[in-house]
Amino acid sequence: MNKITIAIDGVSSTGKSTIAKQIAKYLGYIYVDSGAMYRAVTLYAMQNGLITTNDFNVEALIYQLKNVEISFKYNEALGFAEVYLNGSNVERSIRTLEVSGFVSKVAAVSEVRQKLVAIQQQLGKDKGVVMDGRDIGTVVFPNAELKIFMTASAETRAQRRYKELTDRGDKITYESVLKNVQERDYLDSTRKDSPLIKADDAIEIDNSTLSLNEQFDKVLGLVKMTL
Ligand code: C5P
Repeated sequence: MNKITIAIDGVSSTGKSTIAKQIAKYLGYIYVDSGAMYRAVTLYAMQNGLITTNDFNVEALIYQLKNVEISFKYNEALGFAEVYLNGSNVERSIRTLEVSGFVSKVAAVSEVRQKLVAIQQQLGKDKGVVMDGRDIGTVVFPNAELKIFMTASAETRAQRRYKELTDRGDKITYESVLKNVQERDYLDSTRKDSPLIKADDAIEIDNSTLSLNEQFDKVLGLVKMTL
């Protein structure tokens, strides 16, 4: 059967990656979490003193980008590929609220985008890929056969992300998560380079009231219509 490219974009914390992983597994496709790559660059900037609470040294980050190596390694037990920054597994450390608080600023830097988009296009060059992010259907794979745009109310999304973070032991408040979700939506959709917008040919799914099974069935139905 012909392999296709599936682009899943949408606002923050809509559960894109959960569905993308399940669909990729079902189809035997690779799954690429493009947000993890922007988060890993942000972590690099934080670890190297390029981002502090009061300052973001954009020039230094652009200069040091050549030292940032991002890769994925499949984790058999988890059933998906984890992200590595310069050889270290950073899958957990990129998911903190601190990284979430800076990532949209890092993702607005064109040089960062150019570097990561090139890697994403390389990873998906043979099709058979499910990639989630903000600009996959508009910039990374404008010719993707299936484009999905996921939305949900900010409160629903914050509630889900809050549960996810507190379940793993992070000490945070619901208000701080909601604020982060709203700030990222704003920064991601108003930046100059590759803003978050729904591609003209993307199918929108509002998953505010949908269970994971319902979302999976809906997306799988769209995949079957596309194949
Ligand atoms: O998907 P996730 O929420 O982990 O993405 C983190 C951030 O990375 C987003 O808020 C956005 O700023 C950036 N991003 C992006 N383009 C993508 C994927 C993520 O700008 N394709």
